[in-house]
Amino acid sequence: MKDLISTALRYRNHRLELLDQHQLPDRELWLHCDSVEAMVAMIRKLQIRGAPLIGIGASLLLAHLAEQGLSEDQLREAAATLREARPTAVNLMNCLDRMLAVMDQGADALVACAENLFEEDVALCQRMAEHGAALLPEGAQVLTHCNTGSLATAGAGTAIGVIAEAFRRGRLSHVWVDETRPLLQGGRLTAWEMCRLGIPHQIQCDSMAAILMRDGQVDAVLVGSDRIAANGDFANKVGTYNLAVNAHYHKIPFYVVAPWTTVDPHCPNGDAIPIEQRSAEEVKGVSGSFGEVRWSPLESQVFNPAFDVTPADLVTGWVLDTGVYDRDGIVAAIAANNQREFA
Ligand code: MRU
Repeated sequence: MKDLISTALRYRNHRLELLDQHQLPDRELWLHCDSVEAMVAMIRKLQIRGAPLIGIGASLLLAHLAEQGLSEDQLREAAATLREARPTAVNLMNCLDRMLAVMDQGADALVACAENLFEEDVALCQRMAEHGAALLPEGAQVLTHCNTGSLATAGAGTAIGVIAEAFRRGRLSHVWVDETRPLLQGGRLTAWEMCRLGIPHQIQCDSMAAILMRDGQVDAVLVGSDRIAANGDFANKVGTYNLAVNAHYHKIPFYVVAPWTTVDPHCPNGDAIPIEQRSAEEVKGVSGSFGEVRWSPLESQVFNPAFDVTPADLVTGWVLDTGVYDRDGIVAAIAANNQREFA
């Protein structure tokens, strides 16, 4: 396979390496990944994360293993194991399905497919960025949640791709970065990306977003997605639904930015999206390059869904690589695409 380099993933000299996102922003540590077990563990620990990137990482590993001489049966078993690593982001399943579709054609076909998935994602990010940046008013102040940038995709990102493009065009003045409890993807990763891009930003606790909206300091909310259902409902990092309700109340445009690889035409609505439940420790404390801290009583029980579902009627627009859609538009586009490509 040829060399492929992105912010959080690199394939060089037949070696797959992932930037350990658990250690950011303080340490930039690259981890070698050469087995299905290692990849599954890294996905579960969110050392590699973000809907598009986990699909691409899993596919690159499969192609690498094919080049190493694994049999078709072994590769099918590997794909089945990788598929179970996380349940909500449909990009993982979509990427693996595309790899499975060429698996009987041998290693060269798998390599070509994985390279294409990587390069396609870079192009999808660019197209979303262009569509989304055009929506924002001059000097926009934007609020975003979780991390949707170059740490979550092979390219510039989804919502952060739009933010970066709007900043380049001089249309964006400030980004409000939701800290994103419990795993702090905003406070750690989006803030790291904003610093690297030189974009003026402030981090706030998730519970502070409503005040900013009330005070007229947010012109638009931009978020990514892990799965968009056929009726336009979508799953994203837990806390997104709160933002959508608050944005609706304050009459602030709320956009979801995602590539076609995040659409699940077979999922009728948000109720059918599987939501990953995660460990109690993540809520009772925090861990990272600094070690581990716990502040809650050991015996306390915890509720910790990794994602929530935002109903379509709270969404102002769906920014896809193919364009910007309103509610009727996204439903029609998914139905049409379903007949053409997914039937
Ligand atoms: O649990 P994570 O960090 O993988 O969650 C990531 C998100 O929720 C992102 O918003 C989503 O994957 C879209 S990013 C391109």
